[in-house]
Amino acid sequence: MTATHGSPTAAGSGDSATKAFRASRSTASTGPAVSQERVSEVVTELLAGIHATIRLKKVSYDEFQAAKQYLIDVGEGGEWPLILDVFVEHVVEDVAAESQEGTKGSILGPYYLPDQVRLNTPARLQRRSDEKGTELLFAGQVRDTEGNPVPGAELDIWHADDEGYYSGFAPHVPDGNLRGVVAADDQGKFEIHTIEPSPYQIPTDGPTGALIEAAGWHPWRPAHLHLMVRAPGYRTITTQLYFRGGEWLDSDVASATKPDLILDPTDTGDGKRAVTYDFTLEPG
Ligand code: DHB
Ligand code: FE
Repeated sequence: MTATHGSPTAAGSGDSATKAFRASRSTASTGPAVSQERVSEVVTELLAGIHATIRLKKVSYDEFQAAKQYLIDVGEGGEWPLILDVFVEHVVEDVAAESQEGTKGSILGPYYLPDQVRLNTPARLQRRSDEKGTELLFAGQVRDTEGNPVPGAELDIWHADDEGYYSGFAPHVPDGNLRGVVAADDQGKFEIHTIEPSPYQIPTDGPTGALIEAAGWHPWRPAHLHLMVRAPGYRTITTQLYFRGGEWLDSDVASATKPDLILDPTDTGDGKRAVTYDFTLEPG
């Protein structure tokens, strides 16, 4: 797991994550304006939670000022996307999941990049000529909630490398590495050749890492594939798939695992692994 080349810094990945987030906002539709009533009710409740914690834990002036300094540091380090996606996004996803049928979702995380190379199934994700890691064949079918094949489906997939680093957020990994948008066939079937990712560690040299260490927690997420599965006329699923027996599955720092999202690859005998996973999309 130790990086052999210049390790990415928290400041570097935080900065890239902040830029990627800003870019996604400038192209996204802004949606309906949030009403004054909504702002007031949500922020009042949020502040009430903070006030209650201060009273319950008798937070001191020193601690309050340390918290202020900490929040300033998170912003200056560009780490808001990292810290919010690790500690908060899973609850937003839980709420969204209340109205979702089909394959379970999981958090998007800070490392999605749009507009990656488009590939047809059977697809091989772009990788370095000396990419490390166990070869993985990930195959399956996209169907609707009635079990019918979904034509025109595409799988936008991105994942960390064998050292837990994402292209676009680690200077030593080439752009587009282990990312792609794979078009399934007219039966919704897909085959994606890639490598198994390693667990991901929150950068430990920035404010998010400092908090984790100060609290005595661990900074790990279990190995995972990120996916957005889309098809015209269906609600897009944003999810992650994990690996049975993988380290940190039961203590994901981002609390984003679900039992339904665990892959169980088998050895194919030639040093490779293979797994199938089918996706269910609901009309949208
Ligand atoms: C973070 C990184 C991830 O790869 C992920 O899936 C979720 C969160 C993070 O560093 O915040
Ligand atoms: Fe991730």
